[in-house]
Amino acid sequence: MPTTQDEITTKLDIPRIRSQFPSFAENVNGHPAAYLDGPGGTQVPQGVIDAISNYLKHSNANTNGAYATSYRTNETIAGARSAMADFFNCDADEIVFGFNMTSLTYAMSRAIGRELGPGDEIVLTLLDHDANFSPWRALEERGVTIRQVAFKEADCTLDVNDLAGKINNHTRLVAAGYASNAVGTINDVKEVVRLAHAAGALAYIDAVHYAPHGPIDVRALNCDFLVCSSYKFFGPHMGVLYGKREHLKRLHPYKVRANTNDSPYRWEWGTLNHECIAGITACVDYIAGLGRQLRPGAKTRREAILVAYDEIVRYERSLCERLIAGLKTISGSKIYGISDPSRFEHRCPTIAVRIGRHSPLELATKLGERGFFTWDGNYYALNLTEQLDIEKDGGFLRIGLFHYNTVDEVDRLLAALREIVVA
Ligand SMILES: Cc1ncc(COP(=O)(O)O)c(C=O)c1O
Repeated sequence: MPTTQDEITTKLDIPRIRSQFPSFAENVNGHPAAYLDGPGGTQVPQGVIDAISNYLKHSNANTNGAYATSYRTNETIAGARSAMADFFNCDADEIVFGFNMTSLTYAMSRAIGRELGPGDEIVLTLLDHDANFSPWRALEERGVTIRQVAFKEADCTLDVNDLAGKINNHTRLVAAGYASNAVGTINDVKEVVRLAHAAGALAYIDAVHYAPHGPIDVRALNCDFLVCSSYKFFGPHMGVLYGKREHLKRLHPYKVRANTNDSPYRWEWGTLNHECIAGITACVDYIAGLGRQLRPGAKTRREAILVAYDEIVRYERSLCERLIAGLKTISGSKIYGISDPSRFEHRCPTIAVRIGRHSPLELATKLGERGFFTWDGNYYALNLTEQLDIEKDGGFLRIGLFHYNTVDEVDRLLAALREIVVA
């Protein structure tokens, strides 16, 4: 049964939150824009926009010069490193900035691959985004064997038995997603790390999709690497990688001679996007700010981040329940992924659906005309759509809910979908 409007309560001040996002004023054909496209990139609050523009106004320079704006640039980057350290629960020198998750992962796969050859194996999953698949599979050119872990088609969850069976004493690395950007499944990444380490392999976690939906603790996970993209958690278009200090120091990046050998700078090539790095601090502070509204006495930024996620998880789950319950009542709908509410702690509010004869592109286009921003296709989760045999039929319609979405948006979306499918 759909939850009723009154049943969804949250300690988050949703109107206040939404007032911080200028893009929410957007209209399409007279309809208020509903941003349900966050899995492809979330909207940004004013604080992030201000941080980016303030950097360009007051600190714009290259690093390590002997003058004021260059000092400020160094401070901006150091500040963002400590913000991300709070976000991940690690030390600032374990943070590496890059263009995006994909390029960071290629850089890391090249560096790790330098040490691998015939007889070595890498374990990948078919549930993952291609950015945590192809960079590792490229190492086949060095003679490395790639093993692929299946997922269960009934609920799109990772087959952990298959994973355990694919790991052996030749395994050098296991790469897995924290959460699926297509069907929302949250993987038991702690178990993935445990299995990898038991075989003496490294564990590389793609947390791009999970980051806006739940707290990340790299110390508790004990992963070797974890990577995400700030544009998926209310920040600018950049990627951020956590690497255990020992690995960042020991491995050899491809880099120019003039770049320092000091870690983590040796992993950051050329001139970084300083203005976006300023925006990263602001997006972490935005999340911490949500926590501080709930617990003004929070002693550290990390504590405030955890408080925020506590409530984000709760609220997003209620929205997800309502949306999935509503979708189930639409004739011809098929939801991919976990759809039993009692198991929702194992999924993000990212819903992949197909409805009867309507192609995902048709649905996304018609919704778009009504102001609902959703996605259609495979979102680069290519192995998933191929295995489910829906790649040739346009993949899924993906609806992504975030803490800034409302009950009203969910209800209006369901009404619009009903109207579209009966027309
Ligand atoms: C789960 C997941 N991994 C990796 C990526 C790639 O991230 P980026 O665009 O930062 O390279 C995405 C992008 O959508 C994603 O959703």
